[in-house]
Amino acid sequence: MLVNKAIFPVAGLGTRFLPATKAQPKEMLPVVDKPLIQYAVEEAYAAGVREMIFVTGRHKRPIEDHFDMTVELELALEQSGKQALLEVVRSVKPDDMECIYIRQPQALGLGHAVLCAQSLIGNDPFAVLLADDLMVGTPPVLQQMVEQFDEWRASILAVQEVPPEQTRRYGIVAGTPVNERMLDVTRIVEKPAPEDAPSNLGVAGRYILTPGIFHEIANQKRGVGGEIQLTDGISGLLRREKVFAYRYDGKRYDCGSKEGFLQANVELALAHAELGPGFRQFLRALEL
Ligand code: UTP
Repeated sequence: MLVNKAIFPVAGLGTRFLPATKAQPKEMLPVVDKPLIQYAVEEAYAAGVREMIFVTGRHKRPIEDHFDMTVELELALEQSGKQALLEVVRSVKPDDMECIYIRQPQALGLGHAVLCAQSLIGNDPFAVLLADDLMVGTPPVLQQMVEQFDEWRASILAVQEVPPEQTRRYGIVAGTPVNERMLDVTRIVEKPAPEDAPSNLGVAGRYILTPGIFHEIANQKRGVGGEIQLTDGISGLLRREKVFAYRYDGKRYDCGSKEGFLQANVELALAHAELGPGFRQFLRALEL
């Protein structure tokens, strides 16, 4: 069983990032020099995924254009001898990567977005990546999860410790530790108040799921915020199959929020081979 398919739900409204997201998808916001969605696609590719399924909505055309060929641009770069830039442009979509687009007619929630891709997934396990969670890890976080999947052959949720006052932003899991990084999940709750949270482990935007999840989502009612929540689907799946939570080794930037987005830009710019040294000097000179 290989994890060869990934779903990228990109049909959300991005209200936390208005006005930037009024007419452009938040997944196209660039961190340093690459749009968020490209970081997520590169992470999936590095983990062995070759079929990228984007669940899109209105205003999401720029994502399709980004992963399409740009003949005029490539020709212009070639003619002006800009070989390095030509490579940058071509590497956005490697030849062995397939991109498929499907619409979520209405932003009814993350669970609903995942359900929209059911017919493209069939009976295989698959990954879900939320591009607004930018993950930095070595090896990349999804690859760490695929390695765990190979061993456990069950759904795996990426989790991290979150401050108690922030439980309302996450799906929170509880379970039995099976080793220092893995938890056998017994409960999952969407966005609980701190006093109702079953632990301090919050789900980050990376999942490997078995196709059993579709049955759960299809039969569930609207949850928190009137949305069809993926968390509620996972809660149903737990009653039939094992689900594990994996404490990933890496760092997450919540680029769906302005703060997280700014932090990602600063840290990734500092780590950038070309820009890093000059940017560091610039920050030092700010005398904060
Ligand atoms: P968010 O909870 O961040 O929602 O969705 P959002 O609408 O994008 O942003 P805010 O909260 O209004 O600022 C998490 C992920 O799920 C996708 C989003 O695109 C994002 O990647 N999503 C959410 C959908 O694809 N469809 C939905 O109906 C809801």
